[in-house]
Amino acid sequence: MDATQQGYFDANRRNWDERAALHASDGTGFYDIPAFLAGRDDLMAIEAGEVGEVRGLRVAHLQCHFGLDTLRLARRGAEVTGLDFSPVAIAKARELAAEAGLAARFVEGNVYDAPDLMGEAAFDHVYVTWGALNWLPDIAGWARAVARLLAPGGRLYLLESHPTILAFESVEGVIRPWFDFATAAGTPIVQDIATTYTGSTRQLASTRTYEWIHPLSAILGNLMAAGLALDWFHEHERLPYRLFANMEPAAEVGLYKLPEGHPRLPLSFSLQASRR
Ligand SMILES: C[S@@+](CC[C@H](N)C(=O)[O-])C[C@H]1O[C@@H](n2cnc3c(N)ncnc32)[C@H](O)[C@@H]1O
Repeated sequence: MDATQQGYFDANRRNWDERAALHASDGTGFYDIPAFLAGRDDLMAIEAGEVGEVRGLRVAHLQCHFGLDTLRLARRGAEVTGLDFSPVAIAKARELAAEAGLAARFVEGNVYDAPDLMGEAAFDHVYVTWGALNWLPDIAGWARAVARLLAPGGRLYLLESHPTILAFESVEGVIRPWFDFATAAGTPIVQDIATTYTGSTRQLASTRTYEWIHPLSAILGNLMAAGLALDWFHEHERLPYRLFANMEPAAEVGLYKLPEGHPRLPLSFSLQASRR
């Protein structure tokens, strides 16, 4: 990893450290930690319907944030390890696990170092959802890391914002192309956003972030090149956040959709791929 790339990761980590502390204090109820502690099982509808049986499986949850979904997988009987590069997120995740009385391992580190930190071929299942790939400059390196984590026959579950739609922004109420559909590693999307997505009005100090859009061809092609075979691929008309101002709450808890009458667009995608 060169110094420039390390600089991107350092800035993003500072931003996520701040956001992890804010999110885990749950001022807006976005993460509804009390409901989680009370035992409510709320993996969101798409992943709940697709992830399949994880009971008894060794699961690696990459970019686990402060561990809510990691612990939801533990509750479903998985032997789960969460990884995130934010030390604040990992500390909060360990606190939450203790508070919930759930067994899960949490590892601090960069996704690209995951196999060295978590074990080669040590997992039956790798779980990656919502807001993970956009923080990664090198999608081929990510696919290789996923393949190295998986035991032969092990599977990846990936659920993400649709990269095609990430190239669009709503500008004065109109959804229009805004970003290139593929971001080169060396020229990230640079943003300074003063608040986070939970609805909190608290101003962040570390606002600078670096992100990348990876087209489906890069995601699928690199998974195949790393030795995974595609089991299935779905596109969805839901997102767990309002990407565009005109989006409305969907029937499923925590998800948003485009308004009735708007041309239908693929807002997210999911796939399962298995290590050969
Ligand atoms: C939007 S959150 C993902 C939320 C996740 N779906 C969950 O289970 O709650 C993005 C996470 O990625 C982490 N992250 C970003 N870049 C990373 C990297 N290079 N290596 C490891 N974690 C990273 C951030 O610290 C943050 O917790």
